[in-house]
Amino acid sequence: MTVDLRTSYLGLELANPLVPSASPLTGAIDTLLALEEAGASAVVLPSLFEEQIVHDALAVADVADFGADFSPEFFGSPVPEIDEYNTGSDSYLDTLVRAKNELGIPVIGSLNGVSPGGWVSYGHKMQDAGADALELNIYIVAADVARDAADVETDYLRLVERMRHEVSIPLAVKVSPFFSSMANMAQRLVDAGADGLVLFNRFYQPDIDLDALEVGPNLVLSTSEELRLPLTWIGILHGRVSTSLAATTGVHSAEDVVKLILAGADVTMLASALLKRGPDHLADVRLGLEQWLAERDYVSVAQAKGSLSQRSSPDPTAFERANYMRTLVTYAPRRG
Ligand SMILES: Cc1cc2nc3c(=O)[nH]c(=O)nc-3n(C[C@H](O)[C@H](O)[C@H](O)COP(=O)(O)O)c2cc1C
Repeated sequence: MTVDLRTSYLGLELANPLVPSASPLTGAIDTLLALEEAGASAVVLPSLFEEQIVHDALAVADVADFGADFSPEFFGSPVPEIDEYNTGSDSYLDTLVRAKNELGIPVIGSLNGVSPGGWVSYGHKMQDAGADALELNIYIVAADVARDAADVETDYLRLVERMRHEVSIPLAVKVSPFFSSMANMAQRLVDAGADGLVLFNRFYQPDIDLDALEVGPNLVLSTSEELRLPLTWIGILHGRVSTSLAATTGVHSAEDVVKLILAGADVTMLASALLKRGPDHLADVRLGLEQWLAERDYVSVAQAKGSLSQRSSPDPTAFERANYMRTLVTYAPRRG
């Protein structure tokens, strides 16, 4: 039996729910072609960073125009060494144009920033370069003790509103899970103009090198263990917030994809799995997804989608506090 794997994300009709998320693999044409060949239904390019755009703009032009409403944190920080990852803002647009010319699947551009300054106009440039949608990654580490949650949330919403104003293509917003009221924040992001939510950003926490006595970045790729956080929130939000839902963090296997679809994801995004195993891994995941659905007599992804979300689940408490209590109380330590 063939299973209809099609899904709709941000209003785009996709052949299946497997989308490589932003990573170095999606930044080069040869790997993008390999991902398409392996069955990717769309791709998200690596982010162009606010710092990078401002860095380029400051090198050539008018500080006032670009810097007028940057967050104070921004001016306090040095421009990080990011040129080698995504190169400059112009070559980003070149890659986008090439990707659009050479791929048959939708290409999603990505912007990563925190403040609603002039850099936001790059959303429009990506749209003009042919991006099918834009993913706005808002990566804020709220480390200022003087700013409360409402201040920080307002920053998110202002930025989404500003970007919504800038582009007419679909807009997805990639956020962290660290809000006091995630469900309410999801709704407000949608009200501010997000067509989709990408759940969740994975924070790269620094580590301490005990030999060098230095704090340094230490990028560890994810494992499937990390799937539970997006799984929980996609399960809770499916059917409650009228927006597309994409899962990112911890998607490695066909089983991971199946779980997220049952919870209610429209698409599942992969980065670490593809970095570890290469683009061809996507073909195995696609096959595994199809087989799993066929063996259980599902005719389509659409039929399975959300069938174990909180709203549809026979045990809605499994997503909330009641289950937490039960889980702790019934835990039995292993013997031996
Ligand atoms: C090396 C590397 C580079 C990444 N670059 C970006 C980026 O430019 N923009 C972005 O939004 N996410 C970026 N990510 C995050 C991934 O898109 C993804 O959300 C995250 O790794 C969690 O998914 P995973 O568990 O499949 O790795 C990057 C991840 C890795 C490992």
